Amino acid sequence: MLQKKFIAFLAAILFAANFFFLPNVSAENSASVQNVTLNKFEGNESFIKFLNSLPQKKGAYKSKQRPILLEGAMNIEINRFVKALKNPVVYRILNYVYVAGTYKNYPVIVARTEQGMENSAAVTALAIENFNPIAVINQGIAGGHVAEAKINSIIIGDKYINSAAIITEKTPAGAGVKIIPQEMRGTYCYDKDAKTFKLCKEYFPDPTLLKIAEEVAASNKNFHTLTGTISSADAWLNGIDHYKYLNETYGSLAEEMENCSAAQICKSLNVPFIGIRAISNNTILTQDFSEDTAATSQDFVLLVVERYIKTITTSYQLPANIKESFN
Ligand code: 5AD
Repeated sequence: MLQKKFIAFLAAILFAANFFFLPNVSAENSASVQNVTLNKFEGNESFIKFLNSLPQKKGAYKSKQRPILLEGAMNIEINRFVKALKNPVVYRILNYVYVAGTYKNYPVIVARTEQGMENSAAVTALAIENFNPIAVINQGIAGGHVAEAKINSIIIGDKYINSAAIITEKTPAGAGVKIIPQEMRGTYCYDKDAKTFKLCKEYFPDPTLLKIAEEVAASNKNFHTLTGTISSADAWLNGIDHYKYLNETYGSLAEEMENCSAAQICKSLNVPFIGIRAISNNTILTQDFSEDTAATSQDFVLLVVERYIKTITTSYQLPANIKESFN
């Protein structure tokens, strides 16, 4: 017994010694690799407290109108939405957090997707199954691929690509790692006409949502907006030549980690989608990373939501015979 305790004690000492005496290899090797840990933001704790103070709901979600689903990966990317909801309640589905409430008297679900493509796909699919949203908006922060994408610029995504879903050239051993030239392979999405899953190289926003986002951009000059491709992958790229390649090949203006997989699920399940991002970092520029841009993204998206609610509620009120008489 005593012997066992001694061995456990020795193991603990050796384990702790690792941290003091062994060189931190990963830190040394990653000297030029920039990333932001993105988990210790100001206000995070108070927002989590607020989330925990909300009523927790179990069972089926019920609503007369189909809700709008607003997605953000991290607390700083959903906090404004949640605070804007009336009568918020929390649903937890397979560890993911959804807050249901109303905005401008219309049902809205705010989902915290967590970071990355797989989480964003899972959260979107679960939301479509459990809340039956009329539209999905995936938003938050992103890294710029062009100099015009400055800190706080809004990128309205008119195309979404998975920049990791590629085929590279066959190269012999010793030729080095080469991802260019590359061909877009794409990801599998459901084709309702062919009734099967097919490779999709790119995804597009719902035309109504895109039109509304452009209208919001045109009528609110306090936002600097650009429209173009958003690249997604479980990757944080820092190579300026890589950005140039993605921009010249796919028209990419920005990168992030959730848009394209949410777009893929929405395409498969026939739900209108748009991806909108605020630039929080751009290796090309000297500007520093700014977490405040998460608020910019939400502020812009709330204007889109308000306009979208007007559009769908007005067209709903038109009886079919009135619509016909316009034709
Ligand atoms: N590259 C990749 N993802 C980024 N994000 C912000 N900037 C970048 C960038 N330069 C977003 C991702 C993910 C988290 C790391 O922040 O979408 O959620």
